[in-house]
Order: sequence, then structure tokens, then C-alpha cells
Amino acid sequence: MVDGFGDVEKIWMNGKLINWQDAKIHVLSHGLHYGSGVFEGIRCYSTPKGSFVFRLTDHLKRLFRSAIPYKITIPYSLDEIKKAVFDTIKANKLDSCYIRPIAFYGYHSLGVGPGECPVECVIATWPWGAYLGEEAIANGIRCTFSSWVKIHPKMLPVGAKATGQYINSMLAGFDAKEKGFDEAILLDNDGYVAEGPGENIFLVNDGVIHTPSLVSALPGITRDSAIRIAEDLGYEVVVRNITRGEVLIADEIFLTGTAAEVTPVREIDGVVIGDGKRGPVTEAIQKKFFRVVNAEEEAYMDWLEPVE
Ligand SMILES: Cc1ncc(COP(=O)(O)O)c(C=O)c1O
Repeated sequence: MVDGFGDVEKIWMNGKLINWQDAKIHVLSHGLHYGSGVFEGIRCYSTPKGSFVFRLTDHLKRLFRSAIPYKITIPYSLDEIKKAVFDTIKANKLDSCYIRPIAFYGYHSLGVGPGECPVECVIATWPWGAYLGEEAIANGIRCTFSSWVKIHPKMLPVGAKATGQYINSMLAGFDAKEKGFDEAILLDNDGYVAEGPGENIFLVNDGVIHTPSLVSALPGITRDSAIRIAEDLGYEVVVRNITRGEVLIADEIFLTGTAAEVTPVREIDGVVIGDGKRGPVTEAIQKKFFRVVNAEEEAYMDWLEPVE
């Protein structure tokens, strides 16, 4: 048994499956000091047709893209990482799990420039249920606008899922928890709605779905999935700047993310959203999403990559 991670035995590290307890790095590793790593969060779902990783290729493409601005050369091909993901899931005998690939500058020197620090590459898998809870999926969560502003795209490549960038998310999360809310929503520097600490955001008004552009938000794989599902269900999806005020008067709000899946928001800063419960459009998208990840929708099977 491993604290907080369940009963998991193996981690893939730099090309080998090793024992969980042996997956260690030096305290002077560059990534620890400067947040110089890139990572992914992926889910493997257990379905009646077997275990499938949801949009693994798309997640790994994003991993390799995230690495570009940070000049992190991942010393494996996308296909090698993909095989390593499957090997790790199988080695841990997991039917469903969360998957965390990470590549970061390791131990050599501690100049801010990574110099000759090697790029370490790790894949961990562990069991993980609903991130914000089953109750949240059904009844929605309570959010607050964070006083922390989303990282400005002139400061960091917002579209990269880099470890150091999550300090911003962590602060927003503290804000929410300390004020007694489930999750934060961050605005960008111009006051437009950006995203959650680990989720993209959507609003629904008069049956039309709106979501912010990717100027100040991560290109979420679940966001992309929700847009495709919504459009296939016949909804119009508009990508545009959204203000804080608009969010408060929306008929429905929902968040998307690998961890959060499709989670309704029922209240923001004491303002009840719509009827104060999961709205019909959110429910339709959520229902379809869960059917898709449960391998019940033939048309979306190309999003599911089997663990063989
Ligand atoms: C800041 C941020 N926004 C959005 C998302 C949602 O992205 P995805 O749906 O790919 O998990 C995540 C999670 O990875 C995130 O960390």
C-alpha cells in the first residue's frame, strides 16, 4: 500500500518499470527548484468492452507540444511513451486509473538555465475516482472567482502544461478552499473569464453554449471533447470573450477536465446559477460524455485506445 495512491507497485522511469519506492530523484534536481517540467493527466476507463485510455494520443501530443517552449527534449518518441503508458497500466494490474506522464530537467547543475541537466521521464498510474466527488457530478459544485489572475500569455506559454505554471492554480485553489468553496474560477488580466485551476469552463444561455478562447486557457482535451459532443447533439458552441457578470447570470455553467470530467456549477460567490442544480444541457453533454468513455458510443470509439 502506498500513501494516497492505493495499491500500486510499479512506476516507469527513464525506460524501465521499477518498484514504486525506488522511483526517486535527487533533491537538487532542476525541475524541483524551477518548475521546469511538463506533464499530462490522463484517464483509463474500465468498460464492459475492456479498459481504454481516453484520447491518449491527443494527450501525448500535448505533452510533446508543452515541452517545445521549455526546450525539454523528451528522449522517447510519442509511440514509445504510449507503449510505456500501457506497460505501466498492465504492470499495476489496473482496470481504471489516472495516468501521469512527466518529463523534467533532472540533476546536474542549478543555474536557472538547465545547462546539461538530463531530461528525466516518468509515468505513474494509480486508481482515482471522481476528482470533485460523485455528488459534484450529479448536483454541481460551488465556485468563487479567485483574486489571483490567470497567468498572462505574455508571461508564460499558457497552452503548455508545465509544472511551474501550476503554482498559479494552487494559489487559486487555496483561495477557494479558504473561502469555503469547492473550486476557483480565474479571470485573465483583462477581466475576462479564463478557466479553473485544472478545468476549462462553459456557460449555457438560451440553449447556446459559450466558452472562452484559448488565449488564457489550456487547450483541454475534455473541452475539445465537450465541444464535439455538444455540436453532435445539435447545440451551437460559441468561442468568445466572457465576462464575470455574464457567468453569474448564465442559465448553466459547467467545468471540464480529465480530473473533473464534466462537472456542473450550481453557485458562484453566493449567486445561484440557473435553478441551482445541474441544468438540462449540462446533463445531456455529461450523459453522452460518460457513455463515450464507457465505450457505449460507436461513433466516438476512436477516442478510446485499448489497453491490450
Ligand atoms: C489549467 C487547466 N485547464 C484545463 C484543464 C483541462 O484539460 P484536460 O481536459 O485536457 O484535462 C486542465 C487539466 O489538465 C488544466 O490543468
